[in-house]
Amino acid sequence: ELHGAVTIVVLGASGDLAKKKTYPALFGLFKNGFLPSNTHIVGYARTKMTHDQYLERVTQYIKLGTEEDKAKLNAFKQVTSYQSGQYDQAESWIALNQAIEQSEQDRQLQPAQRNRVYYMALPPSVFIPVAQGIKQHVYNATAINRLVVEKPFGMDTESSNELGDALGALFKEEEIYRIDHYLGKEMVKNVMNLRFANIFFAHAWDRQFIDNVQITFKEPFGTEGRGGYFDDFGIIRDVMQNHLLQVLTLIAMERPISTDSEAIRDEKVKVLKCIRPIKLDNALLGQYVGDLDGKKPGYLDDDSLKNKESQTPTFAALALFIENERWEGVPFVLKAGKALNEAKVEVRIQFKNVAGNLYDDTARNELVIRIQPKESVYMKFNSKQPGLSYQTIQTDLDLSYHDRYTDLAIPDAYESLILDVLRNDHSNFVRDDELEASWKIFTPLLHAIDDPKQHLPLVTYPYGSRGPQELNAFVEKFGYDRSNSDAYTWPR
Ligand code: BG6
Repeated sequence: ELHGAVTIVVLGASGDLAKKKTYPALFGLFKNGFLPSNTHIVGYARTKMTHDQYLERVTQYIKLGTEEDKAKLNAFKQVTSYQSGQYDQAESWIALNQAIEQSEQDRQLQPAQRNRVYYMALPPSVFIPVAQGIKQHVYNATAINRLVVEKPFGMDTESSNELGDALGALFKEEEIYRIDHYLGKEMVKNVMNLRFANIFFAHAWDRQFIDNVQITFKEPFGTEGRGGYFDDFGIIRDVMQNHLLQVLTLIAMERPISTDSEAIRDEKVKVLKCIRPIKLDNALLGQYVGDLDGKKPGYLDDDSLKNKESQTPTFAALALFIENERWEGVPFVLKAGKALNEAKVEVRIQFKNVAGNLYDDTARNELVIRIQPKESVYMKFNSKQPGLSYQTIQTDLDLSYHDRYTDLAIPDAYESLILDVLRNDHSNFVRDDELEASWKIFTPLLHAIDDPKQHLPLVTYPYGSRGPQELNAFVEKFGYDRSNSDAYTWPR
């Protein structure tokens, strides 16, 4: 349990992110005793609602397993309140501040205990006015203030820097927590432990042993209903520049000098700065069309899509190269798509062939980190077929969390990240220089995609398929040996 006191202000409390992620995560922490003993949660948004209407809205995605959960939810409701107001008017912010101060007085908090977290569950169009309103009228200089904000952080290097400068003029970097929710996922958090707490990985983790790395994100649903937002962004901005690049960074970075958050983020920035901007030749872009039996719509069929000739990719495979001593020449292939055949996010580290191999039919070793669903780590390796045969077969060492840790409930990424905020731990948040370095890798490619004159090739794939047909040749071009892999054939 965290001792002390905090007021958590959820800005945009009537929106989707708040009800689907923020409040369920806050309740998860509350239920398990991970919120500070003296916590108050204030929801803020433009919608006028009574306290009951607010509670109904923000608790609709909370899952209640037991009677005890129900009792806990009642207790949770007692520590919440709601305040409506505008995002661009001083009076609204002054009123919010008064409400917070009242709650702080009711809870008998001394000035130094009046810590506040401002959680922006908001669209990017109001990030800056809200941050300004908070800084001018709600910020409490005598205690700790933390601003939590989530993507989109701009559209490219320039717009991201503009946003960064505007926020940076209001809040100190150590007060800002930029969420990339992939950093809160159990298996993503595990990458550093796997790499740096195991001697047998440490020495095989480079260009001498590793042939290529595949980081794959597959979703079985399209952008139905979200076409308005998605069409401006596309799959690369939506999940690759942030989530998948974060995974790559953890796989590729050097060992930090300690587990201190700045030490970790220093190493992340260093490796990002070694990645060349993605070349157009190293990109395969796709967009889904309706499925073969006409049941699922194509991307362009969606009613929420304004531009019916949109060239926005819903699928991309990108090969990135890291120019340093450890990784030169090793392709890191990021693949992501909507409307594919399955839900799966995983990392595959494919090792090189054994030199001077004695045996036929040996497959390459692969280390697979399954991020979701069914978290697992498994290593594909070769072994003698048991019995009288001398045949070499491929098998695996397998740590599947659902078999091994049967009593363990894996926390939601947002629970983990909000707890980090309350602990003032920045390790799993994106630093300003890290964000800039990550945009630089993608910006030239994104500008080329957005430029109608350049007409980058865009292939199609049917809804519910494995992706564009061209994908096999693409991954092979960047070293991936598919012949020995379960990536395509073996359902886990
Ligand atoms: C979000 C994207 O950042 O991540 C969504 O905007 C995507 O398009 C989501 O569906 C995936 O997150 P998760 O946790 O479901 O893998």
